[in-house]
Amino acid sequence: MKLSAKQTVDVLRAAGEPTRLRILALLEREELAVLELCRVLDQSQPRVSRHLKLLAEAGLVERFPDGAWVFYRLSGAGREQEVIGEVLARINPDDPVLARDRRKLDDVQAERSEAAQAYFAENAAQWDRLRSLYVSDADVEAQVVAAAGAHRVRRLVDLGSGTGRMLTLLAPQADHAIGLDLSQQMLNIARKQVAEAGLSHVDLRHGDIFDTRLPDEAADLVVVHQVLHYLGDPAAAVKEAGRIVAPGGKLIIVDFAPHKHEFLREQHQHRRLGFADDEMARWLAEADLPAAALTALPPNQADGLTVKIWAAQRAPTALRSAA
Ligand SMILES: C[S@@+](CC[C@H](N)C(=O)[O-])C[C@H]1O[C@@H](n2cnc3c(N)ncnc32)[C@H](O)[C@@H]1O
Repeated sequence: MKLSAKQTVDVLRAAGEPTRLRILALLEREELAVLELCRVLDQSQPRVSRHLKLLAEAGLVERFPDGAWVFYRLSGAGREQEVIGEVLARINPDDPVLARDRRKLDDVQAERSEAAQAYFAENAAQWDRLRSLYVSDADVEAQVVAAAGAHRVRRLVDLGSGTGRMLTLLAPQADHAIGLDLSQQMLNIARKQVAEAGLSHVDLRHGDIFDTRLPDEAADLVVVHQVLHYLGDPAAAVKEAGRIVAPGGKLIIVDFAPHKHEFLREQHQHRRLGFADDEMARWLAEADLPAAALTALPPNQADGLTVKIWAAQRAPTALRSAA
């Protein structure tokens, strides 16, 4: 249904202010924490928060707390969002204010990704020990194997493959496997682990989860194990992972349930403190994948974390074209 004239005026009024328009243009790129928005806009937190509140009341942005941080993203699909999309698309991309905001956001993102890269470079050698500090690896791995299913897989892709643990676990049941990671240090260790396991059909590649350069439907099993919480735009990563899942294939995402271990952000480069099921369901739907089968593994120690496994299976071709 179309918006009424009054609704349209409300949407335009909410967006019709310079800072609020800048905020919408920034959030069109990715979800951002309030402090990041303040930095890019060079405005105080109370001021930015006031603008965000107005945008949220008009249904244009969505607020979501994540530990001690608060993030904002554009609201999902809806007529209001279509109007905003139209407005933003019509602005000259060389507009000096928006171009400056984009450059500042580039700087914020670059800083974030350099810090994460440095963290992974520094910790690659001890990653296998770090990984098991807060969860029981054995339990998680047993559930991942169960989610993958007992049958053989033609093409396995592990995105953010790190030291290669998911590959040594799952590649024995695959005809061919690719591990993709942004960190050369992680890849070096993965190459050694994979060779030691005698898995000569595993190809380890340097690459970005946001742009894997793999063709559509390139894999029958895609795994994203403990990667999303490091990323600025986890929705985009899920979409890219979904793009490469073949009809009948599976996407298995392993990450944390929402938690409050703020030190993981401060000391271990986590950006998001876990993910809610409805959030993941929305991203999977946007990736054209059905609701995922869900496994939750509660912590086995007092300060542990709950691990979630979301396993979504793409419909076989016949069903997809009938849908
Ligand atoms: C926590 S480790 C997990 C590694 C492995 N999946 C595991 O569970 O042991 C996260 C990995 O994601 C990789 N990573 C982070 N951002 C990435 C990106 N944009 N594209 C590809 N890999 C990325 C890091 O280099 C790191 O190896």
